[in-house]
Amino acid sequence: MEIFIDSASVIEIEKWLRMGVIDGVTTNPSIMLKDEVYDMEKGVKEIAALVNPRPVSVEVTTNDLDEMLIQARQFASWAPNIVVKIPQETQWGVPCHGVMHQLEDEGIRVNATAALSMGQVILAAKAGATYISIFAGRVGDEGGNPFEVIRNSAQWLERWKYKSKIIVGSIRAVADVLQGAMAGAHIITIPPQFLTRMADHKYTCETVRQFVADAVKAMEMMARSR
Ligand code: E4P
Repeated sequence: MEIFIDSASVIEIEKWLRMGVIDGVTTNPSIMLKDEVYDMEKGVKEIAALVNPRPVSVEVTTNDLDEMLIQARQFASWAPNIVVKIPQETQWGVPCHGVMHQLEDEGIRVNATAALSMGQVILAAKAGATYISIFAGRVGDEGGNPFEVIRNSAQWLERWKYKSKIIVGSIRAVADVLQGAMAGAHIITIPPQFLTRMADHKYTCETVRQFVADAVKAMEMMARSR
């Protein structure tokens, strides 16, 4: 299973990249805004160069299908490792699978984003999307069981040998990462604060504290015995 970082912060991306634990990056317009990346082209090019050849997902910012194609081609020209996020449908409920299909046909990798149901996963796989992002937290917001959607979708993709890989996003707790992993996600995209939490356990700190203290005592004993 791969781990992507769900962030547009170059500082966080570089930090986790150096630790060797991330295989790619996902962003969306809200993440860009939160991380103060206002110049999209400049920010995306910087991230793409930093993590190359790992993939960086960048989302289209329009409800117009023709405009999505234009934006996607432009984003893809910024760096070879750009993946374009296309939503399942526009905010008006118009399906975007034609855009996904056309881009994949042109050799532009698509991350079919904002999937909240298995039906959407099936259609995005049929359209040829390289990645399909299931938003675990948002499925849960609506009272659904995200891990059932992930498990069923992963089994279905495997059963029929589709190339699409499931990215689990919308992580709200470390438990979502673990349950997503057990449900068969190919990739989980994790915000930096949850990567930090995953690394931490209070009893590990206590254990290390004990070992360091005892090592200091041992060195004191050795010095005294000389
Ligand atoms: C991932 O690709 C998504 O952009 C992100 O995880 C969405 O998370 P949210 O539901 O917290 O906005």
